[in-house]
Amino acid sequence: MTPALIVHGGAGAATPPALQTERRSGLTAAFEAGWNILVQGGTALDAVVQATVTLEDHPLFNAGLGSCLTEDGTVEVDASLMDGTTFQTGAVGAVRNIKNAIQLARAVMTDGRHVFLVGEGAERFAREHGLPHATADELITTRQYQRWQAQQTTGEPGTVGAVALDSSGRLTAATSTGGVFNKRSGRVGDTAIIGAGTYADSAIGACSATGDGEDIIRATLARTAVELMRGGKDPAQAARTALAHLTRRTRGESGLILLDPFGRSGVVYNTQSMGVAFRSEGRFVVRV
Ligand code: GLY
Repeated sequence: MTPALIVHGGAGAATPPALQTERRSGLTAAFEAGWNILVQGGTALDAVVQATVTLEDHPLFNAGLGSCLTEDGTVEVDASLMDGTTFQTGAVGAVRNIKNAIQLARAVMTDGRHVFLVGEGAERFAREHGLPHATADELITTRQYQRWQAQQTTGEPGTVGAVALDSSGRLTAATSTGGVFNKRSGRVGDTAIIGAGTYADSAIGACSATGDGEDIIRATLARTAVELMRGGKDPAQAARTALAHLTRRTRGESGLILLDPFGRSGVVYNTQSMGVAFRSEGRFVVRV
């Protein structure tokens, strides 16, 4: 089976021209990190985690390093992932001092006792599993600090994620975010919620969503989008229908990426822009 991969860098306001080149190279690096795993016969799970880690480590995406700040001036991140073959999931919410939340979500999934850890308990779990710690100073970029000081609320693209199909036919999805600008401490968004921000079923499809987290949760967007592909329905159409459902019922702004078991894709958003990177008909495509 031919592998497939889509990564996204969030939906939101248009990327300022001065940041476009750097964001494009960040998305390209994330795609290549995941794609190299897939073409060497690696798993979709490893591919989505590696692609997401690459974007978490990039200062111009709202996840990990470069996360937006809470109203208290702190960083609290959410992440989740789902293996569509085993139906194993892992999620973390409102976690401080973690370098790569997606690796913490994976550790929760691998541990298997629970599927969702938040706050201090999740941080303790990260320490026990030797995951890289990061201080607030190490996670807060000058750019995000200045936005917070100026209370600059204009919605820039947020959240990162990936969906992958590996050569064994396994579909997996991962999503990670710093959340929404100026959120209350303790707020958890769609990115940590399986079925809202992330969902995968290897028999149907995989989805990672981005945008207004509260509305995405209300619409259970990722599960809705995947269910719309049931019976081999076209992912591009399923993505449009799912987004129309969200818009009609909540007026939320969002974007999502979809893959089906045949490697067909769907990418939609109702915001000004959405960063994505994927291969289509043998050609690499990257947009910011
Ligand atoms: N979609 C990211 C969030 O609302 O937290």
